[in-house]
Amino acid sequence: MVETGRRMNASGINQGTSGNISIRNPHGFLVTPTSLPYDRMQPEDLVQMSFDGTYEGSRRPSSEWRFHRDILQRRPDVEVVLHCHSVYATTLACHHKTIPSFHYMTAVAGGTTIRCARYATFGTQALSDNALEALEDRMACLLGQHGQISLGRSLAAALALAIEVETLARLYVQALALGEPPILSDAEMARVIRQMKNMSYGQAPDLDDAERPKAD
Ligand code: 13P
Repeated sequence: MVETGRRMNASGINQGTSGNISIRNPHGFLVTPTSLPYDRMQPEDLVQMSFDGTYEGSRRPSSEWRFHRDILQRRPDVEVVLHCHSVYATTLACHHKTIPSFHYMTAVAGGTTIRCARYATFGTQALSDNALEALEDRMACLLGQHGQISLGRSLAAALALAIEVETLARLYVQALALGEPPILSDAEMARVIRQMKNMSYGQAPDLDDAERPKAD
């Protein structure tokens, strides 16, 4: 988790002590501590939390522990929650824009759109409720006037998706500069989603070499 936090900042999708990461474990979940720079963070700084909101250790959990807890509790398909303030995703989120299927890769988040959650103050139950709503049937969402959340079955997958969401957001901002781009039809996006599932497209970090599908 510490390594993933450092990679998140080094990749350019996060800055300073913004963002946070959690992973499910047998006792509940581990979450990054609040307000500690990733380059100073050590594994013993991670905070063990229970789903009832109690925690152990000397560090205080991320201010966003509620959405980490609620997502891990409500989404058995998810092992990792990663939140960051990537610049282009946040730019769109400042305008409460959903990313539409202007590009086929929008489907990497599991549907035809990457929704933007309604604004609520950071660290609140209201923000968690809004995020869960925007994440319905999705692996990523934007957070209004705040940032983005990407989910995964592994740390590597969640980080890869967050980088992909940021790339899509950047492309969308640039495409909008030339006018409203055309949107792929729902029928075409259904084909893309089917094709991605068949090929485990964009999911390489989740797969061992032995599991990776062979090319025809
Ligand atoms: P924490 O340092 O409390 O995790 O907060 C960072 C953040 O991004 C809040 O949304």
